[in-house]
Amino acid sequence: MSKKTCVIVGSQWGDEGKGKIVDYLASEFQAVVRYQGGNNAGHTVIVNGEKSVLHLLPSGIFSSNTCNVIAHGVVVEPAALVKEIEMIQSKGHSITSNNLCISSSATVITTYAKMLDLARENNADTQKIGTTGKGIGPSYEDKVARRAIRMGDLLDMTILKKKLEGLWKERAFVLLQLYGVKNIPRVEEEATKLFELGKKLAPFIREEIAILDKIAEQGGKVLYEGAQGVMLDVNFGTYPFVTSSNTTIGGVYTGSYVPGFTIDRVIGITKAYTTRVGEGAFPSELKNELGDSIQQKGNEVGATTGRKRRCGWLDLAQLKYAVKVSGITEIALTKIDILMNLGSLNVVMAYKYREQVYDRYHLGMNVEEIEPIVQSLAPLVGEIKASMSRSDLPKSVDAYLTLIEKELKIPVSFLAYGPDRTQTLKF
Ligand code: IMP
Repeated sequence: MSKKTCVIVGSQWGDEGKGKIVDYLASEFQAVVRYQGGNNAGHTVIVNGEKSVLHLLPSGIFSSNTCNVIAHGVVVEPAALVKEIEMIQSKGHSITSNNLCISSSATVITTYAKMLDLARENNADTQKIGTTGKGIGPSYEDKVARRAIRMGDLLDMTILKKKLEGLWKERAFVLLQLYGVKNIPRVEEEATKLFELGKKLAPFIREEIAILDKIAEQGGKVLYEGAQGVMLDVNFGTYPFVTSSNTTIGGVYTGSYVPGFTIDRVIGITKAYTTRVGEGAFPSELKNELGDSIQQKGNEVGATTGRKRRCGWLDLAQLKYAVKVSGITEIALTKIDILMNLGSLNVVMAYKYREQVYDRYHLGMNVEEIEPIVQSLAPLVGEIKASMSRSDLPKSVDAYLTLIEKELKIPVSFLAYGPDRTQTLKF
């Protein structure tokens, strides 16, 4: 059976290197579809030494024959998207209605949503999540409350104003009365700003289902690009320290459209160690010098917020859960170069939790109470070079991959050993 539909999911807490792998694979696909999240994501792609950080544009944008779709499950900040399109165009890459489609049903992130996100984070009485401050949570609230502005609404001033009236009333009340936020833009001001941005985005705003159906009818292949990671999923993640979308496989079906409804491959992008940014514990965290040195060597700094990411060992108990709940069929292991010649290597094999041993994370476990069961491994030594086959890899690296495969019961089919597109091995 030819494999036509492939999904990329982050298998940890985000920042696994999804953008790099999507860019690497994109030329094999006729469409790359972002299906959830918004500009809280930061997907770094390096092609021929040129680095670009994408927040909303799918990472297939550098492949000339690929159509990039921002599907209806995404929350879009129009100003951020216009800026990103112009930034990529200024580097000489073409973005036209031939290679970019923005779903007319995607949710708009309004100034009110952004203000509310920040007001909550800065308020001493509310639970701090450590959000990216981009208005993601309040925008998904607008969506499920059935009052969101959608991308198609930006093209009609009358509809836009009418919808904003309803939204403004409630948001302005909460912002001012509950959080003391002033300078809340009036409807007229917000509508004018969004309408002007809508004019710039108009050529790209369409209904994506017909586009994906046409690609499928012509025998084309579609790649779905997830943002964040399994453990940040609003349902399956370490709630409440999660994002507000479905980062797991279910998000593909609800946040976009899958012609034929069949997903053939789910690649779990997995960093060779673990990182987390924002609030919320993680079991394998290294709160010591080694954690700091991995942070520095791996340049573990948030691509969206510039915050330092906390680092720890690879956590197989967490990954077994991710594979299970997101239907992951293979692993793309990234940033192995950061662990090379580090002098030590540990891995979390299981958890002790409330006096019992578990081989994997279970939904609802209080992460603070998890005691990781750690195993020491032979440190990774040697050098990984272009075009190496699996059998050419340094022995310690091969052993690390073998352990991961044995525990997760799926193959490691890609190994990334540097940030550039070319520094990727396919087995
Ligand atoms: P929000 O998505 O901005 O609401 O943030 C909720 C949580 O998800 C916070 O802990 C963020 O740090 C985290 N988060 C959101 N997007 C990303 C990402 O792309 N990578 C890693 N963490 C993220």
